[in-house]
Amino acid sequence: MTRLFSRRADHRFKAVGITLAVVGLFVVTGVTYYATPAYTRVGYEPTQPIAFSHKLHAGDLAISCTHCHTNVESSPHANVPDTQTCLSCHGASWGNIKSAAASLEPLREAERTGKPLDWVRVHKVPDYAYFNHAVHVARGVSCVECHGPVNEMEIVRHEEPLSMAWCLDCHREPWEKLRPADKVFDLDWSPESDPHFDAKAQAELRRFLKEDVGIKPPQDCSACHR
Ligand code: HEC
Ligand code: HEC
Ligand code: HEC
Ligand code: HEC
Ligand code: HEC
Repeated sequence: MTRLFSRRADHRFKAVGITLAVVGLFVVTGVTYYATPAYTRVGYEPTQPIAFSHKLHAGDLAISCTHCHTNVESSPHANVPDTQTCLSCHGASWGNIKSAAASLEPLREAERTGKPLDWVRVHKVPDYAYFNHAVHVARGVSCVECHGPVNEMEIVRHEEPLSMAWCLDCHREPWEKLRPADKVFDLDWSPESDPHFDAKAQAELRRFLKEDVGIKPPQDCSACHR
């Protein structure tokens, strides 16, 4: 491809573009402040193609989050499970659990047609903001901090604003919100409920994460607006 502009000019145009975009966003923000997602998004609870219950699967049956959200520890993006994951328990030729239930008809249809289920996306940051699941999970930030008690939800509900101010609240002062790595998927865990995690152990973990590991969540614009 031929270049219209020199590489440096390209960079300059890009920089000007970003500046204009940010300025533009601030103007838009002023106008739409009360309509911003922080106000409208919390409580969003769309109807899904199957009445899939996290309370049943992740709560009562205690199936681990990673059984279905297989990418969440290894990738910036969490994934929703594919049809095969459900069929491994519910398929007639597979696990056979309730395989004839009326509630599972959309799953049987997905198996017949090979067309994936149309799960409605609940959480989404705008394209101009960067988010990374694996980084947070690896540092001991539990799903519950950002998604609420999903293991108690019949239908997934948007619990937290996921706004910039909300991200930064934790980035400034994350220590209280970090937990031992093996408790990240245990949404019911709390320091108070854990006999092995008294005040001394909590203080020691926080000191360790802060000083020895050197955890320091970024607050500069370019970390989240790349
Ligand atoms: C048996 C499979 C399964 C398990 C186990 C499971 N999930 Fe899910 N999860 C799904 C499916 C399917 C969806 C998409 C439909 C929906 O939103 O209910 C989903 C959606 C979600 C969403 C919303 C995604 C979006 O669109 O924004 C979150 C958050 C979530 N799960 C968190 C969790 C957490 C946390 C756990 C563990 C406590 C967990 N899930 C365990 C299957 C599972
Ligand atoms: C590890 C096994 C397992 C996986 C994986 C699994 N389920 Fe289930 N599911 C169960 C069990 C066990 C029940 C409860 C059966 C009972 O009521 O005795 C159940 C119940 C259900 C029900 C209620 C059925 C009824 O009408 O009583 C629905 C709907 C359902 N699952 C959907 C899904 C979907 C969609 C997926 C994939 C995202 C999925 N399940 C993945 C084990 C699983
Ligand atoms: C630090 C906050 C944070 C934590 C911790 C977190 N998430 Fe998320 N999650 C988000 C944000 C923000 C989004 C929207 C991301 C986007 O738009 O790219 C999201 C989106 C999702 C989605 C939807 C992905 C899609 O493509 O449809 C799933 C599923 C999900 N999270 C599951 C989990 C699970 C399971 C855990 C725990 C292992 C977890 N999340 C931990 C903030 C978090
Ligand atoms: C509950 C606390 C918490 C919340 C909420 C949170 N973060 Fe973080 N974030 C962290 C921690 C801890 C780290 C890891 C810092 C380290 O390793 O030094 C991190 C790291 C990051 C990084 C650096 C990733 C990298 O590749 O190095 C980005 C980008 C980021 N967070 C974006 C976000 C965004 C966007 C949101 C809001 C949607 C958010 N975070 C919400 C605690 C949080
Ligand atoms: C920790 C991650 C993070 C950092 C650091 C960050 N932002 Fe953001 N920013 C976000 C997220 C996430 C959104 C989307 C908010 C939403 O959807 O409600 C956003 C949205 C915005 C918006 C759109 C309006 C708004 O408030 O929602 C502007 C403008 C913006 N950021 C500018 C900046 C500037 C300038 C900086 C540096 C001073 C910065 N951001 C630093 C995560 C971050």
